Amino acid sequence: MLPEILPRPAPIANAEYRARRRALMEALPADGAVLLPGAALVTRSRDSEFPFRQDSDFHYLTGFPEPDALLLLLPGRAEGEAVLFCQDRDPALEAWTGIRLGAEGAVREHGVDQAFENAERDARLAELLDGRRTLYLPLDSAEAMTLAESVRATLGARVRRGARPPEAFADVASLLHEARLVKSEAELALLRHAAEISARAHVRAMRAARPGLAEYHLQAELEHEFRWQGGSGPAYASIVGGGPNACVLHYIENRDPLKQGELVLIDAGAEFDLYAGDITRTFPVDGRFTDPQRALYEVVLGVQERAVAAVAPGMTLAEIHAGVVRGLTEGLIGLGLLEGEVQARIDDESYKRFYLHSTSHWLGLDVHDVGGYRRDGEPRPLVPGMVLTVEPGLYVPADDDIPEAFRGIGIRIEDDVAVTAEGHEVLTAGVPKRVAGIEALMAKE
Ligand code: GLY
Ligand code: MN
Ligand code: MN
Repeated sequence: MLPEILPRPAPIANAEYRARRRALMEALPADGAVLLPGAALVTRSRDSEFPFRQDSDFHYLTGFPEPDALLLLLPGRAEGEAVLFCQDRDPALEAWTGIRLGAEGAVREHGVDQAFENAERDARLAELLDGRRTLYLPLDSAEAMTLAESVRATLGARVRRGARPPEAFADVASLLHEARLVKSEAELALLRHAAEISARAHVRAMRAARPGLAEYHLQAELEHEFRWQGGSGPAYASIVGGGPNACVLHYIENRDPLKQGELVLIDAGAEFDLYAGDITRTFPVDGRFTDPQRALYEVVLGVQERAVAAVAPGMTLAEIHAGVVRGLTEGLIGLGLLEGEVQARIDDESYKRFYLHSTSHWLGLDVHDVGGYRRDGEPRPLVPGMVLTVEPGLYVPADDDIPEAFRGIGIRIEDDVAVTAEGHEVLTAGVPKRVAGIEALMAKE
């Protein structure tokens, strides 16, 4: 029998994209404009390319799925405020690379006000932006800056004929990224789905794990589920680290054998409709924790569960992280991996030998999603609609001064959590993290 196929959530409606563009335009001065390029295809080798992935900001405002597009937002323009440039229709090329929507298709399918094909771009761009005093664009995008500079030069050369070139370039990112930080219901449905697929993938990898397989076999199990459920694939390079490889935070080689008696750490998540899942689980290759593994694991688990429980409106990520650091430090002292008083070991940062990353990041269209972590210099309070990870870990070096039983053990436990009016919703509850739950799952054939 084929494995279950989950129902797909609804895609984001054109009306929502339109509302996002409107909200951004309302934040601009009346004589401002937005210039935002989409992503281009990236060469993988010679004449083959990586699968196309739209730029997240561009996707957020358009949902338009093709490379080499450009969005202009022109508040107050009578002929249309949202103008899209897109790939030219080209039937001979489309026979090889697929149907292009073209200008007509962009308006029809995606609800932008007006669209032109790229062949018209150079002739029209400056004219469309004439008289816009401030251009809002991603200042870190070389392509956007080049386009903006050329618009300024073209209009500059026409000043005597009445053209008015832009006087300033401003960053569109801060406005856009604040909007992206708080998710809509439709976005939450997609994130929930990406999380559910990711959880199923982890369950599948746990079930498959056994000594004698290699790390890449578990990666194959994970990524099979991502695609089976209609995800585009991993939202970031899957990490499958057996034994001491778990202590390398971004270990992605995934090539070593999985050994009896060792733990394996998997940090992997699906991308679905461009939204990311991000889950870490750590479990014994042979399905049973040893006593030292369990002792260390229970420290991370207890801390992680308390941190998840603390997620609620008004809380800050800094407070959550401080609670994690305290809990891990207490645990490390309890196990004899650190000595002395908890506060002293927090103050002298000796816990950082075992825990060097932060506890949370925003999650959304990007796995490390956009949006400021501070406001007016202070950690910002959580509000409903934010989505974050909670991912404490302990990574014990294989050094001589560490008790032998703990050397080279790496553990991280990571869930995706949405902030709700009442507190929070754990999006990744579909994969066990308690010892009994993991051992029971792995005991099943
Ligand atoms: N997988 C990247 C992270 O957990 O932050
Ligand atoms: Mn992760
Ligand atoms: Mn993460």
